[in-house]
This record gives sequence, C-alpha cells and structure tokens, in this order.
Amino acid sequence: MNKSFASDNWAAACPEVMEAIVKANNNYAAAYGDDDYTKVANQEFKKLFGSQAETFFVYNGTAANILALNTVSSSFNAVICSEHAHINMDECGGFENISGAKLLDIPTDNGKLKPTDIFPYIEFNRAPHQSVPKVITITQASELGTIYTIDEIKELADFAHKHNLLLHVDGARIANAVVALNTDFKSMITNTGVDMLSFGGTKNGMMFGEAVVFLKPELAKHFELYRKQGMQLHSKMRFIATQFIALLKNEVWRKNAQQANEMAQYLALRLQEIPEITFSQKVESNGIWAIIPKRLAVKMQNAHFFYPWNESKNEYRLMCSWDTSKEEIDAFMHTLK
Ligand SMILES: Cc1ncc(COP(=O)(O)O)c(C=O)c1O
Repeated sequence: MNKSFASDNWAAACPEVMEAIVKANNNYAAAYGDDDYTKVANQEFKKLFGSQAETFFVYNGTAANILALNTVSSSFNAVICSEHAHINMDECGGFENISGAKLLDIPTDNGKLKPTDIFPYIEFNRAPHQSVPKVITITQASELGTIYTIDEIKELADFAHKHNLLLHVDGARIANAVVALNTDFKSMITNTGVDMLSFGGTKNGMMFGEAVVFLKPELAKHFELYRKQGMQLHSKMRFIATQFIALLKNEVWRKNAQQANEMAQYLALRLQEIPEITFSQKVESNGIWAIIPKRLAVKMQNAHFFYPWNESKNEYRLMCSWDTSKEEIDAFMHTLK
C-alpha cells in the first residue's frame, strides 16, 4: 500500500524497534513483566519522569486511558474531558462500560480545555443527584493537533488539585508535544503536577504498546489488578518493554516525533500554494486540519489517502508520521498540480 496521510498508526514500526524485537526474540524470559527488559524499561521511565514514577505497559492507547482512569474512579464519579477527546469519541464507550463512571464532555474550539470551561461543571455539582467529578483528562497533543503549553498544563493541574480532582494526560502523541515545545517529559508532566499519563508508543514508531505512567505512586496501588482484569497483562511482556527501551535509550522518540512534526509544517507550507485550502487549526504537532473543497479533496485522497474530519464543514485531517519524507510530500504536490 502507498504511504498516506491517514494516520500515524498507518506507518510501519521504525527500524530501531524492529531490531530490538528481533534481539529480544531469543531464549527464555520470565513472563508477565518479571523479565529484565521490563525492569530496564521501568528504569528508563524513571529517568524521564523521576524516580517516584511507576510505569505499566499495555497493548494499546484505549486501554491505557481506560485503565488509568478506572483505577482512580468509582462508578459514581465523572471524568471531565473535551468533546473531541479520544476517550469520548473513539473508545466505543469503553470507559463508561468498564468503570460505570460518566464522561462529562465539554465543548472546545481547539481541542484544549481551560479551567474556566470546567469550573461550572464543578461549582454547580448537585451530588448525590449528579456524578461526582474526580478526574480531568486532557490530550497532549490534542485531538485537533494543538498543544497545551507547560503553563496551561500547570494551571489545569493546580485547578484540579484545588478542587480535589486529579489530572490525567492522554499522551498518545506526547513525544510530538515535547518536541513541539522543545522541552522534556519531566518539565511538561512531572513538574507541572500531572497525576497520570498515558504514554504513546505506537504512533511514535512502535509496533504496538503503550505505557501508563503514575507520577504519584500511591495512585498505582491497584493498577496491576485492573490491568489483569482488563485483559491487558501481556504475558510476553519483554516484547513491549524492549520496544520502549529502543525508543527511549537514544532519544529515538525525539528523532521520530521531530520528523513527523517537521513534515506537517512542510506539508502545511506546500498546501498554502493551493488558494482554495484554508487551515481550521494551528499546525502545532504532526497533523493538519484543513478546509478543502470536496472535488479537490477527493483528488488529493486518491493520490494520498487521508480522512475527513467534519464532512459538513469540508474539514479534513492529514497526519504525518515518523517516516513521512519531504520527497513524498513533493511528489504528492506534483500529482495535485
Ligand atoms: C488521542 C488518542 N488517544 C488514544 C489513542 C489510542 O488508540 P488505540 O487504542 O487505537 O491505540 C489514539 C489513537 O488513535 C489517539 O489518537
């Protein structure tokens, strides 16, 4: 299949990850996370987030979100999220099904929540008649490709804690966000006061696997049990752990995210050569949200497939990956012209 702008999870796994899988495919290793690869990977996460961080591996991002939030919620709780949140739009009600708790989805123009958007949902809560808010979840980079600044995350964490709530970050594209702000994981997550993070591996070049990082270890107390109940305890855990080691050790995550982000900037620049195309969101990470007349969009999709985002507005999403290249974008533009 041709490369496309459909999604960063349409891309193959990066060579460093594949090499690591092949190397780990040797001999016996203890199952269920008692192996040396998992121990090393956990240490690598501690280097990124601080020695208090407790990390657990799961198969996919949906599980990372649902299990992290379920671990800290009761059925009478509510989790506050943006209306665009993956957990709200793209996880098939999994959180509600598994936890029994409620998602309170809040409208946003750019995918980012602000304390002022959230405040009314807390201030006017009528428990026991309404679900009791327990967690705010934000997505970094957001589902609209936008990025929370470090100050914005800190403001949300302070707001959450002031109101006795926790802050969770869906970081399916956390590497793209860290690269976009030219910062590091500790400054963005640990030092801002985030409580829990779903750390994306797949979109950053892994074959499969995501991590749940608890920045406050006491919150992780029952996670292992929920992970097993949630059918996400991988028995050959070494094959997830070794992929994370490969991504983290030589900052392969940074190289991969940087390529994806830079290619989104380049694609945006080239698309500006077509006057009928306008952008509906700022291009801040590895995706482009654009308004494209339908007849043109269809031609473009035939050259390089990408998904509609909101068909009623002729809005489309084009995603770049760790392996998107300038040459491919030039060839795409050449075909269009
Ligand atoms: C923002 C966000 N969160 C989480 C996920 C996790 O998805 P999956 O369960 O497919 O790994 C995705 C995947 O598209 C995503 O875009």
